[in-house]
Amino acid sequence: HKSVSRNDLRLADLKPRLGKTSLIMSLVSEEFPDDVPLRAEEITIPADVTPERVPTHIVDYSGNNSNVTANVICIVYSVNNKKVPLILVGNKSDLVEHSSMETILPIMNQYSDIETCVECSAKNLKNISELFYYAQKAVLHPTGPLYCPEEKE
Ligand code: GTP
Ligand code: MG
Repeated sequence: HKSVSRNDLRLADLKPRLGKTSLIMSLVSEEFPDDVPLRAEEITIPADVTPERVPTHIVDYSGNNSNVTANVICIVYSVNNKKVPLILVGNKSDLVEHSSMETILPIMNQYSDIETCVECSAKNLKNISELFYYAQKAVLHPTGPLYCPEEKE
């Protein structure tokens, strides 16, 4: 169990409009926002209402200020550093009948940085609190390797 006094959580994505701001606002107000700003205000969820009793600071991100669209996205990581746990969030599950888990699970198992994945819907309020719970758990009870194999002597 890791001891942390504050959990810093940043929502980022590979494309705009996937629902980051809606997810934060659905968590906070327990209803789907009809009008959603580009970015949610930074908030800190107090310790006493979080499952792991650690205050959680949530920062929204919007890369939407530019009109640049990409044909390819490079996710850059540093091979010599321990990484921050990633959680794959499949939002807008209300729009499909089928789960994407079958596709996602093999990817998750291949990359140890991916702590967990969750399918949710900001609109139906499905798995919203679970998502933020997993984000706390990933920090407090990490399951990933505690060392980089190359650095092991
Ligand atoms: P940027 O800040 O522009 O990158 O977007 P964002 O990732 O913050 O997405 P945002 O919350 O602004 O939502 C984008 C659009 O998707 C809005 O029209 C939302 O109403 C819609 N949306 C968000 N979450 C859901 C969801 O769970 N289901 C459905 N059906 N629509 C959603
Ligand atoms: Mg946004």
